[in-house]
Amino acid sequence: MTELIKAPLDQISSTTLASKGLELALVDTSHPAEFEAWLRADVRGFHGSEPSSETIALSIAGLADRRTTGVWDSSVPHASLPVATVSSWPLELSVPGRRKIDAWAISSVTVSPTHRRKGIARALLEAELRTAHTAGVPMATLTVSESTIYGRFGFAPAAFATDLTIDTTRARWIGPDVPGRVHFITREQFRMDVATMHERMRLDSPGQIVGWDRLWDRLAGLTDDDPSKNANLRAVRYDDQHGKVRGLALYRVVGDSSDDAIDFARHTLTVEYLSHETDDAYSALWRYLIEMDLVGTVRAGLRSVDEPLSWNLSDRRAATLSTWDHLWLRILNVKETLEARSFSCEGRCVLRVQDDLGYAAGTFLLDVDGAGVGRVTAHSDSDDADVISLPVSALSALYLGGVSATTLAAAGIIVGAEESVARLDALFHSSRAPWLSVWF
Ligand SMILES: CC(C)(COP(=O)(O)OP(=O)(O)OC[C@H]1O[C@@H](n2cnc3c(N)ncnc32)[C@H](O)[C@@H]1OP(=O)(O)O)[C@@H](O)C(=O)NCCC(=O)NCCS
Repeated sequence: MTELIKAPLDQISSTTLASKGLELALVDTSHPAEFEAWLRADVRGFHGSEPSSETIALSIAGLADRRTTGVWDSSVPHASLPVATVSSWPLELSVPGRRKIDAWAISSVTVSPTHRRKGIARALLEAELRTAHTAGVPMATLTVSESTIYGRFGFAPAAFATDLTIDTTRARWIGPDVPGRVHFITREQFRMDVATMHERMRLDSPGQIVGWDRLWDRLAGLTDDDPSKNANLRAVRYDDQHGKVRGLALYRVVGDSSDDAIDFARHTLTVEYLSHETDDAYSALWRYLIEMDLVGTVRAGLRSVDEPLSWNLSDRRAATLSTWDHLWLRILNVKETLEARSFSCEGRCVLRVQDDLGYAAGTFLLDVDGAGVGRVTAHSDSDDADVISLPVSALSALYLGGVSATTLAAAGIIVGAEESVARLDALFHSSRAPWLSVWF
């Protein structure tokens, strides 16, 4: 997979951009000045503060193995800084049945505000998809700043996230009392444990991805220029009754300064990360957080949509949930993608997939055996009564089981006989809701 990073520059987008007086090129990430200019353009694209030389050095060390692409405009005053950026790399994505698939991750999509709406992002995205497809990667994936951009390229949300706000003055913990213990640990220890535990557990949840060093460093607050920013970031660990690490949480508590009269009993605790390998770990960590003294509100973002927590609270209305799209997928190869996951039951369905960019277009027969193993073959009988018509974005949305075929049929996005849609639902169902616990 790593050799895919070095795939040749996409000539179609290169020509398109050249016709606008722009140069598409790959960055030599072993060349510090060149990579630094690209990193500064990326940060500027997301309105971030100018990074310090220390942060730049960490990024250069941590992201050098990515395929790093930029667009340059030689007519601007600071022409060494690209006017657009994109970064990509192959990674493993967990899919139903504790299996995984190779996917092309796309990140750092920025176009300078001085060059927006001239088709630069389109040229970059189409180049990424062509490169991934040519390299034989069956699926592309990203997390998005805005949900309005990527549908036109065949992407769709496939794993959703929930943000929780819990009024802990009205909710008591009524969940299990478990035998292990919660301990404080250093953020450095958290950094080590979280990477190891994630690697052990990532196949348990469809939608999780393989982690990387800089991701965990940043999560643990070990890469910021301003150490005071993370001075209130605390880490705890749940060890089971045998002393084995089974869960981790990272959180911060801040006082309520909104009122004239400060109420010291109403701090807000924000859960920055919580991962658990066992149900006991989940219970122990949430109980610890919910029962924290001097706290009136607990917030947690990026949680799973089937979080069990509400069932462990004495008053479930003490928790407010809001759900939003998080992980977006774009199937590039239908056969390889469908055969990578396992299915919930035996059955067959015929899928007529439309794809404006052509990669996934065709009619496919999916035949699933009693063990949930699917076989995909090209299907020529377009009069088959079972046929379900759908765009590639809808198939990508269904892929991990994050939305039902019935819902997409009701929304008019997929078209087929009611029984065929119900069968598709049953096949694609995932007992574990897809969940991605990080951004990329
Ligand atoms: C989003 C961004 C990359 C778009 O770049 P751009 O070069 O202006 O986009 P393009 O001109 O290539 O537009 C491509 C298509 O996307 C649409 N589009 C672009 N930005 C959009 C936005 N913010 N919301 C909705 N649609 C958008 C365009 O209308 C165009 O549609 P069409 O080709 O179907 O007519 C750029 O505005 C940006 O850098 N934003 C800030 C960083 C960011 O949010 N990046 C995305 C990270 S996931």
